[in-house]
Amino acid sequence: MSGIICLEVCMVSTIEICGGKRLGGETAVQGSKNAVLPVLAATLLNQSESIIHNCPDLADVRTSFRIIEELGGRVYYSGHTAIVNTENVNVTKIPDSLMSSARSSVLFLGAMLSRLRYAEVTRPGGCAIGLRPIDLHIKAFRELGAEIDETGGKLYCSLENFKPGIIDLPFPSVGATENIMLISAVSRGETVITNAACEPEIICLQEFLNEMGADIRGAGSEKIYISGVEKLRKVEYTIISDRIFAATCAAAAACCGGDVLLKNTEPSHMRLMLSMLRDAGCRVSCNDDSVRIRACDRLRGLGKIITAPYPGFPTDMQPQIAVVLGISEGTSTVTESIFENRFKYVGELARMGANFKVESNIAIIGGIENYTGARVNAPDLRAGAALVIAGLAAEGITVVDDIYYIERGYEEFEKKLASLGAVIEKVSTEKEIQKFTLKVS
Ligand code: EPZ
Repeated sequence: MSGIICLEVCMVSTIEICGGKRLGGETAVQGSKNAVLPVLAATLLNQSESIIHNCPDLADVRTSFRIIEELGGRVYYSGHTAIVNTENVNVTKIPDSLMSSARSSVLFLGAMLSRLRYAEVTRPGGCAIGLRPIDLHIKAFRELGAEIDETGGKLYCSLENFKPGIIDLPFPSVGATENIMLISAVSRGETVITNAACEPEIICLQEFLNEMGADIRGAGSEKIYISGVEKLRKVEYTIISDRIFAATCAAAAACCGGDVLLKNTEPSHMRLMLSMLRDAGCRVSCNDDSVRIRACDRLRGLGKIITAPYPGFPTDMQPQIAVVLGISEGTSTVTESIFENRFKYVGELARMGANFKVESNIAIIGGIENYTGARVNAPDLRAGAALVIAGLAAEGITVVDDIYYIERGYEEFEKKLASLGAVIEKVSTEKEIQKFTLKVS
């Protein structure tokens, strides 16, 4: 066996921060990543045009665009509006590279089975915050009449006859709830989901599908009723605001001190997070579509925080609130009850002087005066955003590597923070990487 080593030059980006600046001013909140992704999968169902406004420009969204185009659809995207036409969708395979690059790729499975009656996919990718199985999706599809065979790491799925019924979810899985809605919207009979996820993104998907002509009721509660319809039509829809993006910016303002106005947001989607910032000592005021956060003194600890399905404390805000608590008074604990591996950022924060101890799924956080700037790696999307927040508050310079994770969910995050007075920039440099190509003679 022989091989050749070649050098490849690629661009590597980092976020560099000079910390210690108070934040002030106003910024607009992006459209919701976790709302637009199931909506993009749903565009397969109307075999027509879908015009989607407030669509954020994110890596995961662009992955969904590419999946739609691979299946035979067309996508035009400009100025946060996506025009999707799925009239000619007829391909039943999603390339492994696209399936493995985002968790949301699995949401195309329900729509493909409904539209094409067949789908050949691999398991989805996504942030490595846990095993992230799809057993609840597969179990529900089988109960609804699908045949799913897994061999060689591929899922061969077919749907001859849809069998409406009651799907009892053992856990209010967001993705499984969305996939059941997608496979059942165009069908016959009534399908009911019990113990459904109640997130605002589920309500958004129901609204989008009903705008297309579906007949779905109950989203936002634990029971969703889907009366199958024969056909869906062209639709124009505006995606809700991203509650996690907004809450992340609120956590940054709390951590750095200052006075920040978040516009184009939905305060009712982040009620618990805002009440926690008030308990910690921030002044929070809300209008219909904006939130103002003022923080000046050192914040108080919050005792015990446990992540839970909506309307509980969102797991997607766990790293960010932990970073706020890391420089608040006293000791707090954060229990991660949704994912089994969502504390990977604790090691990176320790390099910034944080006093965290993790026992099983509980982080015990001893508040310190402040973080010290360091070079750190983003281990996943939300942890990456949390490390940026820590850098904004820290004394000195912080450099965050692997920021592609952050760009999966935060549109121009560093520019938005800079517009609020942070000294932060994205730095791209060329990096030579050795690539070894095996030559089997
Ligand atoms: C969605 O992921 C979100 N992603 C996640 O946001 C979010 O953290 C999560 O919901 C919980 O709110 C998108 O919407 C694209 P789940 P999803 O199914 O659907 C287990 C972010 O940062 N489970 O509710 O994958 C699973 O392992 C991302 O924006 C099974 O066991 O979440 C986890 O422990 C991260 N079997 C729990 O349920 C299944 O078949 C919650 O998963 C499915 C899930």
